Amino acid sequence: MSDQSKAKTLGAAPQGANDPQSAARAVREMFTSIAPRYDLLNHLLSFNIDRLWWRRTARSFALILARPDARVLDLCCGTGDMAFALHRRANQRAPQTDSPTILGADFSHAMLRRAREKSAGSSLRWVEADALSLPFPDASFDLVTSAFGFRNLVDYDAGLREILRVLRPGGECGVLDFGEPHGVVGKLYRIYFRRVLPAVGTLISGVRGPYAYLPASVDRFPEPAEMLQRMRSAGFCEADWTPYTFGIAGLYRGKK
Ligand SMILES: C[S@@+](CC[C@H](N)C(=O)[O-])C[C@H]1O[C@@H](n2cnc3c(N)ncnc32)[C@H](O)[C@@H]1O
Repeated sequence: MSDQSKAKTLGAAPQGANDPQSAARAVREMFTSIAPRYDLLNHLLSFNIDRLWWRRTARSFALILARPDARVLDLCCGTGDMAFALHRRANQRAPQTDSPTILGADFSHAMLRRAREKSAGSSLRWVEADALSLPFPDASFDLVTSAFGFRNLVDYDAGLREILRVLRPGGECGVLDFGEPHGVVGKLYRIYFRRVLPAVGTLISGVRGPYAYLPASVDRFPEPAEMLQRMRSAGFCEADWTPYTFGIAGLYRGKK
């Protein structure tokens, strides 16, 4: 990693936010404003591929999820779909009473309310918390995941350190997020992602900011090589990245 990337605090920076506190507030307000339409837009704008990505991520951690004593945290859980995919995977073999504890955490109350409504009757638990300052003791979890949430943190290195802190030794982390595909697919995708998606997202949600912020936030997010270096610098071992769907998304994995 270059000295420059070592020194710089890298994280989400919504337009108009000049410091980490106002950036975090802007991110929370943005997701709160789109919470009622979030699921609909997610599935529509991704042509339902998001469901495959969550499922594939959950499958990557099948060994941990097969352990009834495992404790799993899904960070920036939003309306809960990554946590649901983990839950489904965990319950594929084990009966409901004998499955891992799975918690979802998010700092937007409105997003969590949707997650709670969707999970009524299941064993999933939801916690309102900031991913950069989690209300859990050190070494609490065997697996920490985050789907399309990590990119919105205002300090990626602090986010990685906090994940590492709450993981047990040997525990694993999985960060699923958008990438920038290259080649012809990349060119076509960029037209869609930078022009069509913000326009449709704004039209359906009725809120302008969030769907313009989305491509900007992907632009700011480190390329895989840099992100992997940041994971190693934070203290993760066995860090790797698996591209999903031509690299439109991808899964970062690391071990404590
Ligand atoms: C794009 S949504 C992803 C939701 C869900 N994981 C999914 O795959 O659909 C990003 C979520 O991250 C949450 N978030 C962003 N920064 C956060 C932080 N510092 N602490 C907790 N949640 C955060 C937002 O409130 C939002 O619900």
